[in-house]
Order: sequence, then C-alpha cells, then structure tokens
Amino acid sequence: MTFLSKPVQIFGREREWAGLVRFATFPGPEARLGIVSGRRRQGKTFLLDALVREAGGFFFAATDETETAVLTRLGWELAAWTGDGPHAFADWHEALERLFTDVPQGLIVLDEFSRLVEASPALPSICRLALDAHGYAKGTTSRLLLCGSDMGVMSRLLAGRAPLRRWAGLDMVIRPLDHREAAAFWGIDDPRLAVLVHSIVGGTPAYRREFVAGDVPRSMDDFDGWVVRTVLDPRAALFHEARHLLAEEAGIQDLAGSRAVFAAIVSGKATCGEIADHLEDADQLTRVLEDAQLISRQQDAFGPGPAVFRVSEPLIVFYEAIMRREWTRLERGQPEAAWRDSRATFLSQVVGPHFEALCREWVWTVDAGVFGELPSEVAAGTVADPRNRTQIQVDVAVLGREEHGRPRRVLSLGEVKWDKVMHPGHVERLRRARDLLSVKGYDTSGTVLTCYTGAGFQGDLPKDARAVTLDDLYA
Ligand SMILES: Nc1ncnc2c1ncn2[C@@H]1O[C@H](COP(=O)(O)OP(=O)(O)O)[C@@H](O)[C@H]1O
Ligand SMILES: [Mg+2]
Repeated sequence: MTFLSKPVQIFGREREWAGLVRFATFPGPEARLGIVSGRRRQGKTFLLDALVREAGGFFFAATDETETAVLTRLGWELAAWTGDGPHAFADWHEALERLFTDVPQGLIVLDEFSRLVEASPALPSICRLALDAHGYAKGTTSRLLLCGSDMGVMSRLLAGRAPLRRWAGLDMVIRPLDHREAAAFWGIDDPRLAVLVHSIVGGTPAYRREFVAGDVPRSMDDFDGWVVRTVLDPRAALFHEARHLLAEEAGIQDLAGSRAVFAAIVSGKATCGEIADHLEDADQLTRVLEDAQLISRQQDAFGPGPAVFRVSEPLIVFYEAIMRREWTRLERGQPEAAWRDSRATFLSQVVGPHFEALCREWVWTVDAGVFGELPSEVAAGTVADPRNRTQIQVDVAVLGREEHGRPRRVLSLGEVKWDKVMHPGHVERLRRARDLLSVKGYDTSGTVLTCYTGAGFQGDLPKDARAVTLDDLYA
C-alpha cells in the first residue's frame, strides 16, 4: 500500500485520512466504490480535494442544476482534464462510461452526490450497473467516491434494498471535531473559554476559518467582545450562517416548522409529546430533522419514559436561544445591548445544557479505571422518589454492560454544574438516587457519585464522591 502523507494544512483527521488513502491505493484487481458523508462544512471537500491531489484522479463538484446542465458541465470539465473532447453526454450511462474510460486507475470523486441524485433519481442504479461484472468499470481499477452532505440521501444509498448496498468498500462519515480537537484547532488553551466557544460554534472546522476570518478570542476577557464582533455582527459571515444554516440544509422543506421544533427543544419542551403540543406535524418534522442529524433522540437511562430530543448543532441552539429573540436589535446593529441582556439566557439555555452534553461525551472517552469498567450506556436519567413525591434528575448516568440474569450495574451517577459551586448537598441527592435505584433492582455496589463542575466544590468532597473538573474534560 502506498503511503501518502497528509498535507499540513489539514488539521487532525488522521484516521479519516488513513482510511481514504487505504481506499484510494489498495491494490485490487477491480473498480471499487466508496461513500463519504457528513453534514455541511465539516471538511469533506477539503479532505477529498487533497486526496485527489495526492493520489491522482478526477474531481467533480455538483451544484443545484438540472440533469442536462450538470451533464454538459461534466463534459466540459472532463474534457479539460484529459485534454481531449469535448464530450456531450446524453445521459449518465454515457457519462459514466467515459469517466471510467478516461480515469481507469485513479479516483473519480463525485462531490455533493446527493444533489446529483435529486436531479437524477436513477443515478445510484446507474452507478450500480457501471460497477457490475459487465459494466463500464470492467477492466479498470478506478475508485468511484461518492460524497454528499444530505445525510438522509447518503445513508439511504446503502440501506435496505438500495442498489448500491453491499458495493461500498468504504463508508465514512466526517463528523464535527470533538471538544478537545476543536479547542486545539482554535488554539484555545483555557478550558473555560474553550467550552464557551464550543457552545456557540461546536466542532465545525469551517467556522474557525471562512466564517470568522480567523478571529479567535484571546482570553476570557475577550469572550464577550468576540461574540459581539462575530456571531452577533450582521456584517460577519457567522451571523448569517446561524440564520441560513437550516435553509441550506438539503431535505428540509418546512423551515418554519423546523424552527418551531428547535424552539420547543431549546426552551426545554423536548419530548415528542411536548413538541406535538405546539405543532401539527411534529412526527414528520422530527423524523426529517433526525434524518439530517440536526436533532437526536435520547432515551432516559432508567425508564421507559418518553425519549427527549436534543439539538445536535450548537449554532442552531445559539440562534434559537439568543439571536432570534434579539433579532430586531441585532439587525439594527446593537449587538452589545442585545448580548448584555442575553447573558442569563446564554447560561441557562446554551452553556448549561451544552456542558452537560460535553460531560456525557467525555464519559465515553475515559478508560476502564475511572468507573470500574467501560461504560456501555451514558444518558441523563430520571429516578422517581416516592417518599418526597419528586423526581431526581441525574445529568450523567453511566451503566455497565447488560448481562443476562444479572442486575444492571450503575457505574456512576453524576450531577453537572457549569456556573454554580457544588457542595455536599449535591452528593446527598445522588446518594438518594443511588439508594432508590438499588431498591428498584439495580446493582449499585460500585456506583461512583460524580460531581462535574465548572465552578469548583465547596468544602470537602465526600469519600464516596469524585469530582471531574474542566481540566479533566480537556486533559
Ligand atoms: N481538517 C481541517 N483542517 C483545517 N481546515 C479545515 C478542515 N476541515 C475543514 N476545514 C475548513 O473548513 C472549510 C469548509 O470545509 P469543506 O470541505 O468545504 O466542508 P464540506 O465539504 O464538508 O461542506 C474548508 O475550506 C477549510 O477552511
Ligand atoms: Mg463540500
């Protein structure tokens, strides 16, 4: 296998690069198919463009065009690449035949493939025919790489009875950078500042580059200023991205309805039932948004109760919680005042829930020593407390592997506080939850009571508890 080093301008993505190189250079006797998907702005084109430069091949980027227009442009671009032509393709059969003839060994990248499929729904079947034993790809060792941002369309390419199913030798999803990678990418050393920035821009690499022109908050003191001059400034690209992100997300037709779903979730009405209270078409809408990976459904750790939805894209939460409410002032160019009046909402609706989610994500990355064994489930959970007629909310419940005939082990119960100092009372609540779970039949003999704290712990940490700090999250 050939070794192609990752170009220096590509941050991280080591595993993705290695997988792509393996796919591109694997010595096999026949043509192969690969799929790369991921939400917009995560760096798919960036990676594949670099791969084609290193490994050689032809790169074609689709845009919103009719089939005729796209075939015409493909004809020009392929002719320019090979130096002959011009080609006038009557249909995709002809185009693929020419592509495999002209690129018999390198990569053929069709970027934004989901848009091509929109204009030509039969295209996946035509690709399948090309790759078949008697297809145009016969006798070549080309690598056909289909890349796309519409997660619904892309995941259906390989699902169930889809024509391309079982053909793909590579099926890669390019995800946002995780919180540690994002901090490194932004060059932010202070974990507190890193959480705040991540709670707005998440792990989308493009937001560090094109969208803020490299403007990074220098320190905690600069955070408010940074917010005001980037995401809240109508002259900044990030401001418009927050508003248009949804509109450009393919597959989402009902914008107003989708916004209503986000608004409900962000304001805390996050179960299917609660969302349906506000909206007629809640079922259909949540399904589309889930498909697009903009929201995700999470089951309670301890019960069959209704699942809650969470918004996966931080910028959407920020837009809903802060920008939309302050829209008039923002449009009129008064971001300072808008931001000043939004601080409390920012803490309660943006950073608080975001920090909780980061803590849950962190649990997946710890080694077995931290909670006694590797977690098999991490979620928020609700424990009914009959004596006090209340419910105890557990922000981070960590469960061990399910084993037949044995009670489920609760590895840890955790409380998360971003801006409030924690104290022994918080541990007492967790103890109560632990005891109630034990009565319900869970194995709590090894349960670690965990305080995830952004502001520290007052007094002595009880012996049966452990603290997880910002430094731990970013270690
Ligand atoms: N791994 C990375 N390292 C550095 N910059 C990146 C990386 N991934 C993405 N970017 C930045 O994000 C921008 C948008 O990425 P792009 O490839 O267009 O996303 P996608 O194709 O997934 O929509 C790139 O132009 C680049 O500036
Ligand atoms: Mg792209």
